[in-house]
Amino acid sequence: MINGLIDKLKTNRDLSDDELREIIDSGDYDGELRAAADEVRRAHYGDKVFLRGLIEFTNYCKNNCYYCGIRAGNPTAERYRLTKEQIMECCEEGYALGYRTFVLQGGEDPYFTDDILCDIVAAIRKKYPDCAITLSIGEKPRESYQRYFDAGANRFLLRHETANPAHYAKLHPDNMSSENRKRCLRDLKEIGYQVGSGFMVGSPYQTTDDLIADLRFLQELQPDMIGIGPYITHAATPFRDMPSGSAELTLRMLSILRLMFPYALLPATTALGTITADGREQGLKAGGNVVMPNLSPVSVRKKYDLYENKICTGEESAQCRGCLERRVKSAGYRVVTDRGDVRRP
Ligand code: 5AD
Ligand code: FES
Repeated sequence: MINGLIDKLKTNRDLSDDELREIIDSGDYDGELRAAADEVRRAHYGDKVFLRGLIEFTNYCKNNCYYCGIRAGNPTAERYRLTKEQIMECCEEGYALGYRTFVLQGGEDPYFTDDILCDIVAAIRKKYPDCAITLSIGEKPRESYQRYFDAGANRFLLRHETANPAHYAKLHPDNMSSENRKRCLRDLKEIGYQVGSGFMVGSPYQTTDDLIADLRFLQELQPDMIGIGPYITHAATPFRDMPSGSAELTLRMLSILRLMFPYALLPATTALGTITADGREQGLKAGGNVVMPNLSPVSVRKKYDLYENKICTGEESAQCRGCLERRVKSAGYRVVTDRGDVRRP
């Protein structure tokens, strides 16, 4: 145990690789780390927790990521697509529940061409001029990202998953690369999107050095949002025998992120709430300031099956909203309904 390490991280918003390794590999700092993260979070955002209404609009995907339950190669996945009308209904319901950010998330589904996506984005933009529209639809050519932006999208979520190209290659087939993922993220930033990135904690073959590489990549990218959650095993994937990541290490990384990126939007993710019952509450206490309640129609929720035992698949949107409000309150924070744009120093 090295005295003063957490203070140093808090003051400098940075540490050497060796110092980060010390904190990541040891549980000894967790108490102090979490307290410091909460202090910094309260200094920047008070007790506010922002809501992002998540609409999972397709689970078709042309990719074959080895960890993901909706990979193309999973024949047991029951596929669905929402229509434009269904997506608009989700937004309507979300708006009434107080959401001012809609996140359209889906697999990389060729059915949703740029024309179709732009038509949907433009319709939401027209009906809800006061709302942020976030896309989370994977890797595209720069021109496509530009078209969605011009149609009215303002934010984009694309996790880099792991910054180490060799580790990335162990999680994905040969037709995907860490380089292209990073190219996408840089394009998105240059176009003017508010960008969210992030990684899984405890993914197969991940080392402490990989986690440090993730932090270094994020320092370079300077994203507005950073989403992390534990890797969770899915039986219908090639990683069926790989153990899930832990809540403990996810929370530790979340607190480190809060100290390194005081301004950032850090969600307490659904995966964290899945791996342990009060995971999201703990995530908020560890520095998180965003929750992403599910707005998808209940009829399709179980089918958006990225990992096993995903929570929030049986509840109506209004129930999810109420449930989260209670959880946020019980953790000592307060749900707010503004758009929650990032506040950079
Ligand atoms: N466990 C945890 N997270 C997963 N994701 C995909 N599959 C899994 C899994 N098995 C995450 C990825 C992706 C996000 C939408 O969900 O990080 O970017
Ligand atoms: Fe969705 Fe609790 S947050 S049911």
